[in-house]
Amino acid sequence: MIVAIDGPAASGKSTAAIGVAKALNITHFDTGSMYRAVTHGLISNQISFKDTKSIKDFLESLKLRFSNSKKGTGLILNDNNVTDFIRSNTISENVSEVSAIKIVRDFMVKIQRQMASDTDCILEGRDIGTVVFPNADFKFFMTADEKSRAERRLIELVRSGDRNASELDSVLDDLKVRDHKDSTRNHAPLIKAKDALVIDTTYLTINEVIDKIVNTVNQKRTLY
Ligand code: CDP
Repeated sequence: MIVAIDGPAASGKSTAAIGVAKALNITHFDTGSMYRAVTHGLISNQISFKDTKSIKDFLESLKLRFSNSKKGTGLILNDNNVTDFIRSNTISENVSEVSAIKIVRDFMVKIQRQMASDTDCILEGRDIGTVVFPNADFKFFMTADEKSRAERRLIELVRSGDRNASELDSVLDDLKVRDHKDSTRNHAPLIKAKDALVIDTTYLTINEVIDKIVNTVNQKRTLY
């Protein structure tokens, strides 16, 4: 079984997907963290985003895997634990440029399909219901108004020490820029799949979002 969740930045996909995976006892894949890890890898190896040949070589030698520990899911890139680096401002500012590169997307889609091939899972991202798994058993498109998304992201960034509490406007601007880039790129732009169920999380608690998804899945599952 494949459950796909797509939606713009900070719409609550990760928190919901983690809760749903736990409730349904299925595997969770955060595909955004994979694009973030590649962005980290290119920057730390000083590979230009325009240098297609070096990007191709980098991808061909790439080893990317999720790790599970008491602290949660982490990401290991070429034997280095990059979990703490991939949510930094530098990565957030550059990830949309990297994720718009066709060879990067083709590579990611391939490994995401492999990862999901032998397990029931929930994948969250921007193109899961449209490109990676157009025949997913369940598709959700998560949204929330811009201000609520910025407020949620600011709380995370203040907690990690990346921003201070007065920076709501700049966090909002960053989200808008990233959403615009993600929605207007040529390859696999962020759009709602026609058959996705929209969940506006603006006025919902995280448990309400999780329940909505879990109930939708369970209702249909009992019909099989
Ligand atoms: O957590 P947040 O909503 O800020 O973003 P994310 O899910 O970590 O995704 C980071 C970036 O990766 C997005 O802004 C997209 O540029 C890219 N992405 C993508 O292109 N396709 C996906 N399936 C997932 C993420």
